[in-house]
Amino acid sequence: MSAQFSGKRFTSVVCVGAGNIGAGWAAHFMRAGLDVVVYDPVAERKEWLDGYLERAMPALERLGLSPHAGLGRVRFTANLEDALGGAKFIQESSPEVLSQKKDLFQQMTDIAPLDAIIASSSAGFLAKDLRALAKGPERIIIGHPFNPPYLIPLVEIAGGEEASTAATTAAGFYRSTGCEVVELKREIEGYIGNRIQAAVLKEIFYIYSQGVADVDTIDRAIATGPALRWAVMGPSSVFYLGTQNPDMYEGFVKGLIDEIKGGFVADGEFNPDEPLIAAYAREVQEKIGSNGQTPLLDLRTTGVIALRKALQFVAEKRELGPN
Ligand SMILES: NC(=O)c1ccc[n+]([C@@H]2O[C@H](COP(=O)([O-])OP(=O)(O)OC[C@H]3O[C@@H](n4cnc5c(N)ncnc54)[C@H](O)[C@@H]3O)[C@@H](O)[C@H]2O)c1
Repeated sequence: MSAQFSGKRFTSVVCVGAGNIGAGWAAHFMRAGLDVVVYDPVAERKEWLDGYLERAMPALERLGLSPHAGLGRVRFTANLEDALGGAKFIQESSPEVLSQKKDLFQQMTDIAPLDAIIASSSAGFLAKDLRALAKGPERIIIGHPFNPPYLIPLVEIAGGEEASTAATTAAGFYRSTGCEVVELKREIEGYIGNRIQAAVLKEIFYIYSQGVADVDTIDRAIATGPALRWAVMGPSSVFYLGTQNPDMYEGFVKGLIDEIKGGFVADGEFNPDEPLIAAYAREVQEKIGSNGQTPLLDLRTTGVIALRKALQFVAEKRELGPN
């Protein structure tokens, strides 16, 4: 078995919901060599799922298939009892409607074995709300992917204190299938990635509303600029490399915040106060900058050059040209 799939804790998984995300999860888990049962109450989704998996196969092969992977490992059923009978790990990806998800979690927890972990792909709900009608609420967590789950490795896990054991087991399981996992210390709607994407979308609308640039220009301003650095190390690390004097980082952050207060974001926004800025700057210095800037500068250089080379064909395709 290849290293990227080592340490597996479950050999099978149930995907509940066969839309874009459920099918994407099925492709991901199948690539990792698991037996995958896909449940959807709409029997016609089987045909669509089969087509999705076939279309995804070339990408899965390029990503690297487990020796145990194959389309024959995926089984579709429109019967919830059949799907959940012996389930150990359930990945729920039904429509983002809270009342429907609550009912579904009640049904699932009535049927599934009590030790089965149930992770929701929800894009924003809290696990505590999904648990409202459920049996064994401590096994319900959020396991939020990014579309398509077989291609984008991140899963955000959130469940609150009540589900910390399930969250730890789920983190190990997702990692064993090749996912990158981040665990939230406490629950918040939208988690991390979608909240930040929402802030970006808001700013895009503002820039667009002001007639500053076309949508494709705004896209290029991100894709060929900040996104290259974010892909390598994330925004706080990038900001940390913005100062020549990392020992005085708090002052540098205050300057950034003052620029924002100066009008980059519309009025009425959350404004960090001085104690918060100080705590943030200290944590960046201690966690991100613990070995100074040099290793991060090296990482940025190596990572961005690798990305620029890898993305050259994208630039050509988009006719960005050499400039
Ligand atoms: N689309 C995205 O980019 C994205 C990204 C991350 C997370 N999510 C989340 O993933 C979940 C699914 O989103 P999607 O885009 O795949 O939706 P979708 O509409 O493409 O698919 C939903 C599927 O659920 C099925 N379904 C309906 N009722 C069901 C039930 N009671 N039990 C099981 N399945 C049922 C539908 O038949 C359909 O096949 C949502 O919670 C969404 O917020 C979506």
